[in-house]
Amino acid sequence: MKTLTILGSTGSIGTNTLDVVRRSRHLYQVYALVAGSNVDLLASQILEFRPKVAVVATSDGLARLSDSLTAAGLPRAEWPELAWGNPARVQTATASEVDTVISAIVGVTGLDATYQAVRCGKRVGLANKEVLVSGGQLVMKAVRECGAELVPVDSEHNGAHQCLRAGNREAVSKLILTASGGPFRNTPREALAHVTPEQALNHPTWRMGNRITIDSATLMNKGFEVIEACWLFDFAPRDIDVVIHPQSSVHAMIEYSDGSVLAQVSATDMRMPIQYALTYPDRLEAPVPKVDWTKAKNWEFFPPDYEKFPLLRLAYQCQETGGSATCTLNAADEIAVEAFLQGKIAYLAIAEVVAETLSRIPVRHPRTVGDILEIDGESRELARELVVARAGAVTA
Ligand SMILES: NC(=O)c1ccc[n+]([C@@H]2O[C@H](COP(=O)([O-])OP(=O)(O)OC[C@H]3O[C@@H](n4cnc5c(N)ncnc54)[C@H](OP(=O)(O)O)[C@@H]3O)[C@@H](O)[C@H]2O)c1
Repeated sequence: MKTLTILGSTGSIGTNTLDVVRRSRHLYQVYALVAGSNVDLLASQILEFRPKVAVVATSDGLARLSDSLTAAGLPRAEWPELAWGNPARVQTATASEVDTVISAIVGVTGLDATYQAVRCGKRVGLANKEVLVSGGQLVMKAVRECGAELVPVDSEHNGAHQCLRAGNREAVSKLILTASGGPFRNTPREALAHVTPEQALNHPTWRMGNRITIDSATLMNKGFEVIEACWLFDFAPRDIDVVIHPQSSVHAMIEYSDGSVLAQVSATDMRMPIQYALTYPDRLEAPVPKVDWTKAKNWEFFPPDYEKFPLLRLAYQCQETGGSATCTLNAADEIAVEAFLQGKIAYLAIAEVVAETLSRIPVRHPRTVGDILEIDGESRELARELVVARAGAVTA
């Protein structure tokens, strides 16, 4: 039986993880559920999965969680230990009882707990891409030194992980990551000036959290995935291609030096890669419908339009630059996406805010989680100023 901590249990990946657990209850026990502020959902997860520990983001959230558990009628003697904040997140990710941590908090908030889990040699099912985008060098050094297993949950990296098992790493010439192209794949560049958050949130193939959905519309998400893949599989950015594949059935391809290409194909449902991350190297019966090969299919592949989606190119450049450039890229993007969702800046200003932040924050070489969070904070502060300047320009 595997003992799990789920960081981000109330999110899209977290709830899908719990569904995988629900379907194979005899294989898993939940040690900790870690959430942000959605205490009602967390309370219902506590009732169903009976973790030993439950953690929320703030002390105020903790009080609300207590109210929710009381309202749900759970006797005090059956409550899990309740806690809040980063030290509690780290404790749940490093506890000796835990063998597998699913890292699915959104943003750098999840970095410290994930890093500490790696340092304790746990298996980490990694969904939180900001962990490697912001702290790739530090985290991968710890993976090597501490013998942790980082199994990617992100469908493209999960697909690559599977394809890479077919041959020697030295014989691999390219990694190809697919992208659906998002809701604006066919929208002319001129029309992008006027798109709304509702349009950007309408992803054609995946249902995900808000930030990753907007990042998918700008292709920033694919840029993050290029960075993440460089760290996970030791690729140079030039050896990773992105290809637009609107059907999202092929998740990743590996080209071997003899020109043979292996592709990983599965349903567009995150429960497949989540289950793989939990059971690897074993496999269980699919938690999702399998691809129906008796039905005719049309799969298309196109090169991406780097002019229309400048954040994808910027991601390649930041990874080439190295150091803290990708940390700043992530921080500025998070602020710009939040401002776009709040209607403060236009869609095209997301890329402008990110590019300007990058041009003004010097590149450094972080050695600790603290260094990374400091650069992250500085980058956010500047990005916020740039948002305010643009919001002012819009209303003036
Ligand atoms: N969704 C996907 O299909 C997918 C695919 C690949 C990779 N990913 C990556 O996986 C991560 C999660 O994505 P998602 O789509 O699941 O996001 P999401 O639905 O927005 O969920 C985010 C989770 O993080 C928690 N959280 C936010 N702030 C927190 C804080 N300060 N302290 C503790 N927990 C906090 C949220 O808790 P509350 O809701 O309780 O506030 C929620 O559980 C992201 O890095 C994303 O890029 C997602």
